[in-house]
Amino acid sequence: MCGIVGFTARQPMSVRVLIDGLKALEYRGYDSCGIALKQKDGLLVQKVKGKVSGLEEIIDPSITGICGIAHTRWATHGEPSVINAHPHQMEHVTLVHNGIIENSEELKQELQSKGYVFHSQTDTEVACAVIDDLSKAYTDKIDILHKAGFILKGSYAFAIMFDDEPNTIYAVRKDSPLILGISDNASYLASDASAFLSETSLIMDLEENEVARLYNGEIEIYDINCALIHRSAYKSTLSLSDIQKDGYDTFLLKEIHEEPAVIKKTIHHYLQQSLLDLEQTMPDLSSYNRFVFIGCGSAMHAGMIGCRLAGKYARILCSAELASEFRYSDPILSADTLCIFVSQSGETADTLAAMRLCKDKGIDTLAVVNVLGSSLAKEAKFTLYTQAGKEISVATTKAYTSQVCVLALLVLKKAMQENLLSIEQQNIMENQLKTLPLLIRDFMSNTNVERFAKHIENAEHAFFIGRGLDYALSLEGSLKLKEVSYLQSEAYAAGELKHGTIALIEKGTPVIALITDPMLKDKTLSNIKEVQARGACVLLMIREDLYTPSIEADETILLPALSDIMQAVASVVPYQLMAYYVAKKRGCSIDQPRNLAKSVTVE
Ligand code: F6R
Repeated sequence: MCGIVGFTARQPMSVRVLIDGLKALEYRGYDSCGIALKQKDGLLVQKVKGKVSGLEEIIDPSITGICGIAHTRWATHGEPSVINAHPHQMEHVTLVHNGIIENSEELKQELQSKGYVFHSQTDTEVACAVIDDLSKAYTDKIDILHKAGFILKGSYAFAIMFDDEPNTIYAVRKDSPLILGISDNASYLASDASAFLSETSLIMDLEENEVARLYNGEIEIYDINCALIHRSAYKSTLSLSDIQKDGYDTFLLKEIHEEPAVIKKTIHHYLQQSLLDLEQTMPDLSSYNRFVFIGCGSAMHAGMIGCRLAGKYARILCSAELASEFRYSDPILSADTLCIFVSQSGETADTLAAMRLCKDKGIDTLAVVNVLGSSLAKEAKFTLYTQAGKEISVATTKAYTSQVCVLALLVLKKAMQENLLSIEQQNIMENQLKTLPLLIRDFMSNTNVERFAKHIENAEHAFFIGRGLDYALSLEGSLKLKEVSYLQSEAYAAGELKHGTIALIEKGTPVIALITDPMLKDKTLSNIKEVQARGACVLLMIREDLYTPSIEADETILLPALSDIMQAVASVVPYQLMAYYVAKKRGCSIDQPRNLAKSVTVE
């Protein structure tokens, strides 16, 4: 939620550093944005409602400054508007903020009684006043920011400028990401390194509750006791091509096409020769008799797949839970339970809170995350990284498939530890794991998913149906479609539709059906007949070896025949492509759908 970027330099730098930085961070929020740039004759503050392109229209690109901070917002407190956009200013302090100040209302009243007048509806303006108020009683800025840390409850990453130190930026974070960058002539801060990657790839971590002082292109870091500490810089693993579209019209399409490579990399990370490698590359699971998969949105859908596979192959008691529900459910967890947290960003507030709850109860935790060093990764007992690389499209694709890959490998490990996977089954799995990336690549180049889109683009709503694993995949297919194309869609367990929702099926209603399980094929086919009898337009995706010409559908796509473990990874790809084509035909903002943000650090 919200992106922050800032710099200080020895010589004045172009305002483009901030604008380009904000553009790289727009995936974190894009309802309003603003900059504060220190120029020779004072501080220039500009804010707009809407995307960074709006800011570009009003800012002269030739202006320069010695330091500056900027922000792109995903609204939490107060509607998207210029007044609520950051930077916020309160007397001697100007700042940008990512996160939520939970006690802002009570602080506001206290500050109002001291004479502060608030103009916005934001919690950020209150934080700004808290820091300004402290600066009246104390002079040392490091001390002021540590003291502010005791007053402000919630999560935050701040970049702060004080009027009496006009060429300096201070930064502090708690439960919100902030990374520092350093080049020969300048120092940077940002919510993630992509914001300053075109300037430098040399980065430095800022840990929780530390304060950084950026001045004249240098960085100083102070620990919780206000003592100056040494922090080494290291090279970011991000490359410029990771943050460029490379000829694709959207990051979504680029990232879908990266899936074969990402799947290969993820599998190779855990398994170089045979499944026996999992013995070393994954934690020992033998003491666990129950798995609970926890996540939000697509990550939860990946967890559902992990849950189905674990039940089938490892015969272990398991469930998949929405993090936002789980954490308030007073869950019954025994010592032999492993709670598995799935998250691309590793920063999702509900998932993080659910993990902390489990830790408080003494339950072992395992994180499946994509972002190195993220909060979930740091706090979990075990961490398994997905190898998706930077995902910029707000709607997840390659990160989701790599989550499913890791969970599938985890299940295989548990199944082998329990002696539930015969040598023959292991050989089949190993061969399929090796050929999976290639199969997906071939599928993408030879299958015309676009023809599904023409049946959906003008529909009022659409339904996705499937049974078993196909139901979990349908949930993800439906989420992809609605978030990028703004078309209302629902996923149903195929047998469930007739218990009410079938009332919505009329002539032409698109029903996208998935059949990959031989055991459930006939059952789902019967459900297809039921909706066809009511006029539905059936778009069928079926495993090629299960297809016969007598199966009737308006369009059919054949999927490669794989074991269900691999099928769970491969079958989502046509759904992702379909969502892309529908969104494109409907003229939607594909990479940055309305109202969304990539990393949901609020509850
Ligand atoms: C949908 C999507 C979201 C995320 C969810 C969890 O395309 O990306 O549903 O899966 O917000 O985010 P992470 O995985 O970062 O915890």
